Amino acid sequence: MTETTRLQELLPQPAEVQPHPEVTFTLDPSAAIVLTTEDARHPAERLAEILRPSTGYPLEITTTPAETGIIFEQSETPAEAYELEVTATTVTIRSATPAGHFNAVATLRQLLPPQAEAKTEQPGPWTVPGAKIQDHPRYPHRGAMLDVTRHFFTTDQVKRYIDQVAAYKINYFHLHLSDDQGWRLEIKSWPNLTKIGGRTEVGGRTGNFFYTQAEYADLVTYAQNRGITVIPEFDMPGHTNAAQASYPELNDDDQARDPYTGIEVGFSSLAIDKDITYAFIDDVVREVAAITPGPYLHIGGDEALTTPDADYQAFMTRALPIVQKHGKTAIGWHEFVKTTEDTTPVVQFWNQTTADENVAAAAKRGNKVIMSPANRIYLDMKYTEETELGLKWAGHVEVEASYDWNPGAYLDGVTEEDVLGVEAPLWTETVASSADIEYLAFPRLTAAAELGWSPQSTHDWPGFARRLGAQAKRWEVQGINYYRSPQVPWQD
Ligand code: ACM
Repeated sequence: MTETTRLQELLPQPAEVQPHPEVTFTLDPSAAIVLTTEDARHPAERLAEILRPSTGYPLEITTTPAETGIIFEQSETPAEAYELEVTATTVTIRSATPAGHFNAVATLRQLLPPQAEAKTEQPGPWTVPGAKIQDHPRYPHRGAMLDVTRHFFTTDQVKRYIDQVAAYKINYFHLHLSDDQGWRLEIKSWPNLTKIGGRTEVGGRTGNFFYTQAEYADLVTYAQNRGITVIPEFDMPGHTNAAQASYPELNDDDQARDPYTGIEVGFSSLAIDKDITYAFIDDVVREVAAITPGPYLHIGGDEALTTPDADYQAFMTRALPIVQKHGKTAIGWHEFVKTTEDTTPVVQFWNQTTADENVAAAAKRGNKVIMSPANRIYLDMKYTEETELGLKWAGHVEVEASYDWNPGAYLDGVTEEDVLGVEAPLWTETVASSADIEYLAFPRLTAAAELGWSPQSTHDWPGFARRLGAQAKRWEVQGINYYRSPQVPWQD
């Protein structure tokens, strides 16, 4: 394989790639990583952390100008955009923001040999094909969601997944932190949420299945250092059995619910008419907002099947302003949007239809929409009938189905301009380990990443499948347990 081939294997596909096949850059053992802007410090550190173990080179990060090596520069490109120029002596990355520098690092990793991702020293040589890449995202929001309620995942497991999605320019990580089966974040003013609600998970295993606020803050920082903003979700007014088991006063009948370890949905509801419910929500939102630097807080709102419409309306009318009061923009699963005329909250569409009149009306008013259609990009759907993990209520979702749709023209009345981006949720009723996460996420997560990043003009299944096939070499070096879909021409 020549270096130039790597330019044709980038995923997501960049906006513009000019190969310069007459030149190749080779990383020198004494090469430095040169910063001419502090915006690039974290991206440069991340690059060095990845390349030092595999190359065995020191890769010192310096602000001393140099004529050779990897150079990060400030530029006037739009937010998140970057330029990456590779000559025989330098790799120069130019961007106006840390986000753009992170995006360039993701590209540069794929321009190096796959062994650059190894945790142990490899022989090299560490070549990068000559090129000029000018790149920017189609959408500002490219998300991955992990459900840590149905099964709990340790911070190390969450970090592993964050690292994996960061490699594909995902920039939001949505943590589904509360549901019927568990409450997963310490709330200091309501300690039983984790003392009781954080003890159980699907299947009945028990333990301290929650993050302390310090652990959550560490996760947020870890993600930030990879260019990723965390979005915490507390699902309400349904999907709340764990909270209702923790505090009897959150129930209409003042009776604590039993912990729930099954996988049914739609049976729970907070008490809608009690003031204590909104005092509870205020405390939860206040505490999580204080340790969440990102702009968003997700309030769920899906499948409140036992909450009558009038109660659902009354609930959202009181709950949505609490998010705003604590300085955050609300995101909700799309059901909530019928309750408000406010154009600030973001709508996350998850249904299997291609028409939803409430979402279309909201988009027309000005609400932004995140696209997560379940029959396309729910990572927990089985690939085929034979897939052991996963569910199938939205059908089987093979890799081509996860890629072959257009987020900007999928839902009637929701235009390209209305779409904030794409998010790939991973619900974990059947998912209990990192290997399980990876098997369902890879390769479909990369379809979400490409749909969120690459220009629609580059949309092409055979081309995507070919570039996807080339990722296997990297996943094997990284130890990612991926599904070898027969639809993809895997390269070994
Ligand atoms: C959902 O899948 N209930 C958002």
